[in-house]
Amino acid sequence: MSKSFKRTTVTSALPYANGPVHIGHLAGVYVPADIYVRYLRLKGRDVIFVGGSDEHGVPVTIRARKEGISTQDVVDRYHNLIKKSFEDFGISFDVYGRTTSATHHEFASDFFRKLYDEGKFVEQVSEQFYDEETGRFLTDRNVRGECPRCHAPEAYGDQCEKCGATLSPEELINPYNAETGNPLVKRETKHWYLPLDKDQEWLEKWILEEHKEWRSNVYGQCKSWLDGGLRPRAVTRDLDWGIPVPVEGAEGKVLYVWFDAPIGYISNTKELCESHPELGGWEKWWKDPETRLVHFIGKDNIVFHCIVFPAMLKAHGGYILPDNVPSNEFLNLEGNKISTSKNYAVWLNEYLEDLPNRQDELRYVLTANAPETKDNDFTWADYQARCNNELVAVYGNFVNRALQLTQKYYEGAVPGCGELSDYDRATLAEFCDVKDKLESLLENFKFREAQKEAMNLARIGNKYIADCEPWKVVKSDPERVKTIINISLQITANLAIAFEPFLPFSSGRLREMLAMKSFSWEDLGRTDLMSEGVVLSKPELLFTKIEDDVIAAQVKKLEDTVRANEEAAYRANPVKPNVSFEDFEKLDIRVGLVKSCEKVKKSKKLLKFVIDDGSGIERTIVSGIAQWYEPERLVGKRVLFVANFEPRKMMGVESQGMILSAVNFNGDLAVTTTIDEVKPGSQVG
Ligand code: MF3
Ligand code: ZN
Repeated sequence: MSKSFKRTTVTSALPYANGPVHIGHLAGVYVPADIYVRYLRLKGRDVIFVGGSDEHGVPVTIRARKEGISTQDVVDRYHNLIKKSFEDFGISFDVYGRTTSATHHEFASDFFRKLYDEGKFVEQVSEQFYDEETGRFLTDRNVRGECPRCHAPEAYGDQCEKCGATLSPEELINPYNAETGNPLVKRETKHWYLPLDKDQEWLEKWILEEHKEWRSNVYGQCKSWLDGGLRPRAVTRDLDWGIPVPVEGAEGKVLYVWFDAPIGYISNTKELCESHPELGGWEKWWKDPETRLVHFIGKDNIVFHCIVFPAMLKAHGGYILPDNVPSNEFLNLEGNKISTSKNYAVWLNEYLEDLPNRQDELRYVLTANAPETKDNDFTWADYQARCNNELVAVYGNFVNRALQLTQKYYEGAVPGCGELSDYDRATLAEFCDVKDKLESLLENFKFREAQKEAMNLARIGNKYIADCEPWKVVKSDPERVKTIINISLQITANLAIAFEPFLPFSSGRLREMLAMKSFSWEDLGRTDLMSEGVVLSKPELLFTKIEDDVIAAQVKKLEDTVRANEEAAYRANPVKPNVSFEDFEKLDIRVGLVKSCEKVKKSKKLLKFVIDDGSGIERTIVSGIAQWYEPERLVGKRVLFVANFEPRKMMGVESQGMILSAVNFNGDLAVTTTIDEVKPGSQVG
């Protein structure tokens, strides 16, 4: 949409204050948002950058119970830690608020009340599981019980991990509270729903027709939600942590965290504008159609920002809607999922303890490897390679050469530029369009490409110095050397501007060394930024090499975490009580030869095996292992299976037995087989 806007409100997802922030947060949301905002500021545009902590919701209450401290203590601790991490990494928020603030409580409460008064909600009573001892209603995931299909004793309210069945809590036999173990009863409770079904039509038009330019992952997710048909969503919960539902008879209920948190963007803006009258009041940033609203988020937040929050804003009336919602995919770490609960992450606070003053290095690598279009992997080896081969060897090296040569030949004063050679002209022409290129990439949220473009400028510089060899010409043609150094310094000054949105720390240091007082985006591409005679300060290295032992220590730290998790998993899963030989004998485990194996239609998890069990009649077994095996890989293999396991239907297919797999501590699994070949039907015992 080529609409012109006067100002931009940029938000970045409010992280849950239930743990420190890690590289996944930075890569997915905060670095891209910061690059964008710094770029807009540098361009002299009117922009505010709104952030804050999301302090309500179940995750923080779980953390509190785990750590044995109050919920308020949890959010205080992590809000401060997160805020500091963002400051440390140069994430340049104009405001970093919190959803437990009085301003926010009042704002979100009023927002709800207005929709309530205008009859925008649907009230509905439903039956939910209730723990009479704790006096609490439970979320689906917190209900556990016996699986109605495979009778595993500890299935979750949404899924049985043993047989892979998708469940609803009502189906569980003898449901109990996962945390307390108490039995549960059904109890009626009233909630308020946002009738999203009524928003279907305008959302389809607004997103699918008018915002085709949104990133394909965002557009695609919206489309699949819309194609599936929107349903009403509850915006209240039975919980004691959150913003009380401001309605009579709603005691013990709070606003659903996903209702109040996005309103936090607005209340945080209000707080910002109250202390900064020059910004002209919060409403300008949220209600004026000439304001452009951009939400930076991770992919698990798409539906809330593209569908639910816009529907809330529209129901309230008077608000603008987001113009774009750049969302990234996930960042993995050394091939594994980052996990806050398993402590498997590179935490920002720990990173800076281990690698002090290396903010830009991390920002650089996370952008170079940003999960913009697909999930990506962060590895320490890649981190080291990019730091050493790109930041040190290309950008840092070029800048250092240009500055050192200026010191050596001209005592640090910028030499004047003489007559240009054809090669000089060609070099200057090579980067005269860097501004346009960078702009179009940044405006389209292609930060990874944009950073590459900036690095390319340093490559041009490096090549220029290497080709011109000023150290060889200095005796024979001193005038020529002046020109070479002048051009090198012009490129250096351009680098300081081009890298400012990406690498603000080193850019700042570079500008100091160059004695650049004022600088603006508009200067990019110019070749007269450094004036003759200006005296530069003493050069320092912009980046230094990352040594192998530093990397090895980081890798070891992660490996130690994995090991600790494995040990904890083993302790949580001790060997079961002894069984007698007779009991063991009841189980008939045999060897089967896999004749064919295919995916069960419409199921992501199930594979259908046909096996030769030695009887001469083929046996069908369904197993929930599709996630781990391409079916072809299993054909022709001998597998162990329980032959007298009661037959049961899964996704319409009768399964006559159970294939045995070894389950790894992290949940991964491997199908079992025999070391030597044996005849199908052989008994295991
Ligand atoms: N706390 C949520 C998460 O970490 C994000 C909330 S974004 C907001 O997934 F819009 F609700 F603020
Ligand atoms: Zn089951």
